[in-house]
Parts: sequence; structure tokens; C-alpha cells
Amino acid sequence: MGTIKLDIEKTFNFISKGAVDAYKDKVASCMELLEKGTGKGSDFLGWLHLPSSIDEEQINSIKATAKRLQENCDYVVVAGIGGSYLGARAVIESMVNCFQHLMPSNGIPTILFAGHNIGEDYLYELTSFLKDKKFGIINISKSGTTTETALAFRLLKKQCEDQRGKEEAKQVIVAVTDARKGAARITADKEGYESYTIPDNVGGRFSVLTPVGLLPIAVAGIDIAAFVKGAKDAEITCGQGVPFWNNPAAVYAATRNELYKQGKKIEILVNFQPKLHYVMEWWKQLYGESEGKENKGIFPAAVDFSTDLHSMGQWIQEGERSIFETVISVEQTNHTLKVPSDSANLDGLNFLAGKRIDEVNKMAELGTQLAHVDGNVPNIHVVIEKLDEYTIGQLLYFFEKACGISGYLLDVNPFNQPGVEAYKKNMFALLNKPGYEEESKEIQQKL
Ligand code: PA5
Repeated sequence: MGTIKLDIEKTFNFISKGAVDAYKDKVASCMELLEKGTGKGSDFLGWLHLPSSIDEEQINSIKATAKRLQENCDYVVVAGIGGSYLGARAVIESMVNCFQHLMPSNGIPTILFAGHNIGEDYLYELTSFLKDKKFGIINISKSGTTTETALAFRLLKKQCEDQRGKEEAKQVIVAVTDARKGAARITADKEGYESYTIPDNVGGRFSVLTPVGLLPIAVAGIDIAAFVKGAKDAEITCGQGVPFWNNPAAVYAATRNELYKQGKKIEILVNFQPKLHYVMEWWKQLYGESEGKENKGIFPAAVDFSTDLHSMGQWIQEGERSIFETVISVEQTNHTLKVPSDSANLDGLNFLAGKRIDEVNKMAELGTQLAHVDGNVPNIHVVIEKLDEYTIGQLLYFFEKACGISGYLLDVNPFNQPGVEAYKKNMFALLNKPGYEEESKEIQQKL
């Protein structure tokens, strides 16, 4: 099976190969810090060898729970936010049929998401839709106290119990949370929900290969064993002993740090396959939360091409030259569709008749790359074989490993996120949460 290929040739008009090569020793030291657990944030390195630690028993247990939810639910709502949401959504949306939710049921529940916003209309429309539907809930929160998720779960739990009765609801509500603490754990134990534990040493954005990601992914009918296998193989190809130029995680981390040093402050992750949209969202969190601190860090942005070539394309081609692109290129599609011939040819597209849609897409991709490089946008190319479980597993682990290395190259702690607390403190103060009396007084004076 193919592995991830990384091509950085199209950055060499802007940085030299020698400059990337010069990172060899630094990257080796960062890898050593990760392996030995002697770097910043070393309490959160559980993701590093997670894929190879997952055994058949864990996979089978998750599959059994998934089967129960599949048999008893037409819809499963995954409640979670940030790292407790994006990994599952990234994998599910890149794997399932784009129109599955509009198709007749095939025994696989449609996965819906909640707890990742505080939109009253969103929650109203979701709960209205679920009226009289057979739905279950996977409540995912490591802390067990995240407001967005807890609010959604409170609404959904009540609705599920009202519609099914308390006993039946217990069969279709599953918690994924801390082993001991937090409201989600306490509720799960009190109500007798089946639950999975998020390891203490795996932070949210690195948790897609724990039950946080694996359970919803399995419920969506996706082969989690193949997904884990892909990640496990990437653990080897991105591993410590692999020579620098053969190690895609090492080269990616070095290249993006060198580009950053040379003034490219924004990295735009690009796809030409709309099913990868949520992989981009997952990646933005991974890199944004890991590196954006101490007034440093590349700003991670993302676009879906060719859709966004008709919106952001102008800026990318001719705006401020502070960007570089990382394009995820998918070699093969899963289906074949050819352009039909049309006798009137009013749209002038008969020159494409008989060609695959993907051939057109590939030329859009190549044309865009050449145009953007001509427009002074360095281009990193990440090539994957196709969209399947194995490959996505590889891709996500590759990005995780590169992120750990890259954060250490930047000399930050890639595994904490102190900055996300500020808005929560203000929100609680504004809402007069008990325990926030002083903060409430202070914030009122600022209004
Ligand atoms: O990466 C992170 O740690 C965050 O994005 C969290 O995953 C997110 O805030 C959700 O936290 P929790 O799982 O505690 O509800």
C-alpha cells in the first residue's frame, strides 16, 4: 500500500534545499525530545505511539458498541467540540457518501454533530428534527465540563429519555470522557451509561485515535482497524530512525519552519477534493492550538479548491506575499465519471468529452500550483493515494508527528492551549457563574 509522498521542490524558488537540510540535526533533537519525553508538555505524549498500542480487543470493544448503536438508532448525535469533535468529523466526512443522509437507510445511522457551537437556532432545529426519530448520543468531553458540549448534551439527554424512556435511553447513550473526573464521567457512572476513557496523556487535538475518534467513526460504518493500521504504518515511516529526507514528517516540519523564518507567516492547507474539508478543519486546530503561542506561530488557514479559487483565489494569487500553500493531492478517485458529449455544445465543453472529471480536476490542480508559484507562493505537496481508511489514518498521524516536531522547532509547548481559557473566563463572568463573582464585577466595568 502506498505511503504519503511529500514534495517540496516548489518551495526552492523561495528557500534553498540546503536551508531545509540544515534542520536535520535540530529535527533529530526534537524527535529525541518526543521519544524520551524530555521536552515541553511531555505529560501529553500519549499520542506518539498510540497507533501501535491499540490492540484487537480495544477495536472489538468499540465495534461492539458501534453495532449496538447502529442496530438501535437511525441517527447518532456526537456531542463534542474542538479536539473532542474535529477528528471524528474529519474521518467520517472524508469516508462516507456525500449524500448518505439523503439516501434510504442502509442500517448505518447518520451521524449528526452538536456541542460544537452555542447556536440556539442550530440546537432548536436539531432537536426539532430529532422529534420522534430513533436517535442515540455519544457524549465526548475530556474535561467533562465544556459549556458548549454540556449544554447540547443536557438538551439531547432529556429528549432521548423523553422519547425512549430512561431504560432504553441508557442503551443508546455512550460517554467518552476522563477516567475519574468531570461531569460527563459522574453522569455516565450515575446513569449507568457505557463509557470509554480518554487517556490522561492524550490532549484533545491528538485524540482521534482514541475512542474520541474511533467510536463515532465506527458507528458511521467505517473500518477502524484499517484506519488504525494506516496510522500505525505512518508511525514507522515518520519514526525516529528514518533518515531525514525519507521522513515526510521531518521534512514537512523543517520546511514550514524555514518558510516561517523567511516571512511566510500564513500556511494555507489546500484540497481539491471536497470530502477533505473537515480534515482541513482538524488540521487548523492541530497546528493553531499547538503553535500559536508566545506571540509566535504560523497562522493555519484552509481552502477547498476549486470552489475557493472563485473567492480566495484572487488574494492568494496577488495579495500580500506572506503565505505558502500545502496542497493535499489525492492520486486516485474512488469512482469514475466521464464528461458526456453534447450535440449542441453550447457550453463549448465538447473538447473534454470522454475525459474523466478527475482529469479536469487534476489540470485545475496543476494549473493552480504553477500560477501560485509564479505568484510567489511557495508550494508544499502532500500526495496520498486515495481516500480510504488506511490512507486517512496515515495522513492524520503524519500531521500529528510533524506538528510535535514543528512545535519543538519553534520552541513552544505544542501540547498545551493556555490561550483558550480567556474567553471562557469572560463568558462565565458575564453569565454570573457562581464562583466568578470577582471576575463579574471586573468585567462589568469594562462594558
Ligand atoms: O485540543 C483541546 O484540548 C481542545 O480543543 C478540547 O478538545 C476542547 O476544548 C474540548 O474539550 P473537552 O474535551 O474537555 O470538552
